[in-house]
Order: sequence, then structure tokens, then C-alpha cells
Amino acid sequence: MLSVEGLEAGYGRARVLFGISVTVEAGRLVCVMGRNGVGKTTLLNTIMGVLPATGGSVTFDGKDVTRLRPDERVRLGMGYVPQGHETFPQLSVMGNLMVTLEASAHRDQGAVEEALEVFPRLKPLLKRPAGFLSGGQQQQLAMARALVTRPKLLILDEPTEGIQPSIIMEIEEAIERLHATGLAMLLVEQYLDLALRLADGFVILDAGRVAHSGAAEELHGEHVHRLLAV
Ligand SMILES: Nc1ncnc2c1ncn2[C@@H]1O[C@H](COP(=O)(O)OP(=O)(O)OP(=O)(O)O)[C@@H](O)[C@H]1O
Ligand SMILES: [Mg+2]
Repeated sequence: MLSVEGLEAGYGRARVLFGISVTVEAGRLVCVMGRNGVGKTTLLNTIMGVLPATGGSVTFDGKDVTRLRPDERVRLGMGYVPQGHETFPQLSVMGNLMVTLEASAHRDQGAVEEALEVFPRLKPLLKRPAGFLSGGQQQQLAMARALVTRPKLLILDEPTEGIQPSIIMEIEEAIERLHATGLAMLLVEQYLDLALRLADGFVILDAGRVAHSGAAEELHGEHVHRLLAV
């Protein structure tokens, strides 16, 4: 589904990623972990083309997408929910979903209903400006928006960051349900226990390199805890 090989990227002359390789097989949920500043968001932004790769490749669904624009990648089925749950604050919840629908490859209105089934808490809020929602509700909207494009792969950057525990549980349940439908996911998650519950496989970054990767069962032990300790 997604194959990242030897990916390199950075900001100006500052290199941040040094040859990262990650694979997400169809239907699998892979968790990217690592301390603050190791390059998790930079990795996701480079996978989506928000940031150009200076080396290596990104292959999605058998197609080399390394040089494609972000919107072209979205149309191929790569859904992205960036860190910090960005929404269009002046637009209503429905407006946010419709803008994404209009930019999607399929433009099928049914996709909005499907996304709202995953996040029913948004249903009574459809007319409210997105900027008036709580952080947790905005995160749910940001995820619903990505779902409207009917992605084959959903890429999520810290969906539980700064969100109150009751909403974290809802978001976790939504991720579980989406995973159960066979949607492949690449998830950046700081909470080890949540990662252990959700992930099939994991990648731990350290200073822009893969320090450790493997199956979820291996996400234990001193070595792993040392890499994740703040
Ligand atoms: N726009 C930018 N310009 C310059 N440097 C940046 C920029 N964004 C990130 N960096 C630097 O790149 C490195 C990796 O940052 P990145 O945001 O990818 O880390 P992260 O693992 O996602 O961290 P966090 O857990 O805090 O979200 C850091 O040293 C950061 O300071
Ligand atoms: Mg980040």
C-alpha cells in the first residue's frame, strides 16, 4: 500500500530526515513514535508532499508519488490529518466537509454521511462555525474531513494531542472501527499504551533515523522505553 524508502528531507540547509524507510501493508495500522522533535511530522509532511523529498522515494498503491503535489496524492487515496487539527474556522462543520467533498476525486455526497457515522458527535454541530468547536470536536472534524475523500490510507499526526480523556476514547474507538473496516493507517502517537492497543506494527524514530521497527509485540523492553522517554 505505502512504501517509503530512504526518505530524506529538511528545512533549508537543516537536514531532518536521514534515509527513513517505512512500509504500510494493506489493512495494517503502523504507528510512528519517538520523542518531540525527532522528525515525525516532517516524515508525514514529506510522505504527503507538503515538504519536498531531497532523497529517497514514496510509493503508494504501486505508483511512485515522490514528485506529485499533495492534492494529487489525496486524489490517489492518501488521506492526511495534520498535527493540530486544522479546520476552516469561519466555515460551518458542514461547510468544512463540503469543501473537501468538492476537492475529492469522487464527489459522492454519500461520503459525508459515512464520515458523520464515524463521528456522530458532529451531527448536532453541522451549522456551527468550526472555530467554535472544542479541540476534541475539531480533531473529529479534521478526521471526518479526511474520510470524506474516501482514502485507502489514512495518515494521522497525533490525533489525541492536547485532547481531554473522554474524547481521546472516542477518537481511539473511531480509529479501531476504521481499522476493522480494513483501512490502512499510518499513525503518529505519543501514548505507548494507545499505540500498543491499536497498532499492528511500529517504527520508532530517533534524530531523523529509524531507531527501531517491528511488530506490535516487540513494542516492549528497555530499549524501546529509552527511545520514548522524555
Ligand atoms: N518549519 C520548520 N522550519 C525549520 N525547522 C523545522 C520546521 N518544522 C520543524 N523543524 C525542525 O525539524 C525537527 C523535526 O521536527 P518535527 O516537527 O518533524 O518533529 P516531531 O517529531 O513531529 O515533534 P513533535 O513530537 O513535537 O510533534 C525539529 O528539530 C524542528 O525544530
Ligand atoms: Mg509532530
